[in-house]
Amino acid sequence: MILPRISTRLLSPELLANFASDVRAGLGKAGQKELSSQYLYDEIGSALFDVICLLPEYGLTQADARLLRRFSPEIISRLPRPVIIAELGSGSGQKTKWLLEELARRQAVHYYPIDISGAALDRCHQELSQVECVSIQAFKRAYLEGLLEVAARRNGDERLLVLFLGSTIGNFTRVAGESFLGEVRKILRPGDALLLSSDLEKPISQLLLAYDDPAGVTAAFNKNLLARINRELDADFRVDQFAHEVRWDDAERRIEMHLRSLCEQTVDIAGSEMKVTFRSGETIWTESSLRFNPAELTGMGERAGYRCEAQWLDEDWPFAQSLFFAV
Ligand code: TRP
Repeated sequence: MILPRISTRLLSPELLANFASDVRAGLGKAGQKELSSQYLYDEIGSALFDVICLLPEYGLTQADARLLRRFSPEIISRLPRPVIIAELGSGSGQKTKWLLEELARRQAVHYYPIDISGAALDRCHQELSQVECVSIQAFKRAYLEGLLEVAARRNGDERLLVLFLGSTIGNFTRVAGESFLGEVRKILRPGDALLLSSDLEKPISQLLLAYDDPAGVTAAFNKNLLARINRELDADFRVDQFAHEVRWDDAERRIEMHLRSLCEQTVDIAGSEMKVTFRSGETIWTESSLRFNPAELTGMGERAGYRCEAQWLDEDWPFAQSLFFAV
């Protein structure tokens, strides 16, 4: 019997060219080599991330969902209506269900997920298309590009609620995160809302475990980036010669994810027209994830042009939902 090959969704020629040049720039750096975390989420990476979200060690997603389930009536009741909802980085959309269901009790819901991952948008559509009275239109775009399109489509009397969940704000630097909130603000009108979820400071041992689970799912998620470069850029990474590594940076208050080369080795990346040499022990930096405190989040929002309407905190896994209004 001939088994079908696993179909991995391929990038368009344009996105593939961007991927090739980003890999070339990141791995060609003289100092710390790096790969942009957006490339973690191909079809396989997105599926692995969904599994990460189920891990008890990665309490973030559960905390996010708990807060949304518990407080969505209050969140929704604080919004002006009619309101349309845009979500930046929808992922699989599971957490969003509570908000959409709550809003659907009050009005017809138009929901616009924006994600660069087609695989994530497919899942999101599957997950949320059963919610009654909700129409979904997905945008496979970068966040701000997608948000501009959504904002351009709304009617004069419609308000916009932007969801930025999953603590994705933590994957920026603090400075870049604040200026990103400012860029979002520029697309909004006064009175529009932003719901921002953010993971809070907690014991370091707990954070290290959240990003290095004993079953190795997170390690697989991180290493899949190298496997993806092999698949899509015709490279010859020996994935087993790299180790997943997690560090806490106390000064920056962030988790860093790296891939550590276990030996001296040279990798040929045909699609990026480069050969890269790694020293034994050298790392590729793949992601950072900041931790916040509640007052800092309010301050960030205020400096970016919002006022904080309310904040809800999870006690079991310190986590915050902050509802901002554009001023
Ligand atoms: N946005 C997620 C976070 O910062 C992404 C993430 C979870 C991640 N686990 C990871 C990224 C491991 C790289 C490696 O929590």
